[in-house]
Amino acid sequence: MTDTGATTDNPFFARLWTFLSNHETKEIQRLRTENLAGLSGRVLEVGAGTGTNFAHYPATVTEVVAVEPEVRLAPQAQAAAQKAPVPVTVYAGTVEKYLSDAVGEPFDAVVCSLVLCSVDDPDSVLQQLFSLVRPGGELRFLEHVATGGIRGRLQKIADATVWPRLMGNCHTHRDTEASIVGAGFAVNDARLEPALPAWLPTPVAEYTIGRATKPAV
Ligand SMILES: C[S@@+](CC[C@H](N)C(=O)[O-])C[C@H]1O[C@@H](n2cnc3c(N)ncnc32)[C@H](O)[C@@H]1O
Repeated sequence: MTDTGATTDNPFFARLWTFLSNHETKEIQRLRTENLAGLSGRVLEVGAGTGTNFAHYPATVTEVVAVEPEVRLAPQAQAAAQKAPVPVTVYAGTVEKYLSDAVGEPFDAVVCSLVLCSVDDPDSVLQQLFSLVRPGGELRFLEHVATGGIRGRLQKIADATVWPRLMGNCHTHRDTEASIVGAGFAVNDARLEPALPAWLPTPVAEYTIGRATKPAV
């Protein structure tokens, strides 16, 4: 594991995420597998958490570089990397730091799952990720997104008050697909899935799962 000095330390969120990622429903596991299906070559995974995605990579992936800044989660990602079916290297730092340091071959794909809600500036991060993907390469995403109506209003209030502070900078009212398109990716396929039972009064409402391509030059 590379230690970069660009880490985060959110103890409440890290403990909660450790619990949640160890008690995932079959449905979210199915979405993770779908999100990674068919990938091949070198993959950059942004914000790997405890490394829950690693077990879902297909054998056609030759290398995963997994970026994770949270001090209590990166070691868990490292432990998951050692059991993964494909080679995984963990970079213990923020994606912003990784992007400022990045050198080497472009990636065949970038994977973002439940992370673009948490970076400070998703537009800027996506633009930089775009430049790290080879022409014709892909962005795979599984992200919770903004909704309308009463829950949309709840999302705005949550984002302006306690939610980001408690949840490791998570923001619930983001139009992530617009940011993906704004960065230059062409969204080939995306759909919404319910995130949690509709009756639960949580600001997280729906996931978008999809594939986007960097146009070949
Ligand atoms: C809700 S968790 C999702 C973890 C994982 N992607 C998954 O699907 O299980 C959000 C993750 O994004 C990470 N994160 C937050 N800000 C980040 C940043 N600036 N750069 C990289 N990762 C970040 C957090 O530390 C956390 O592990």
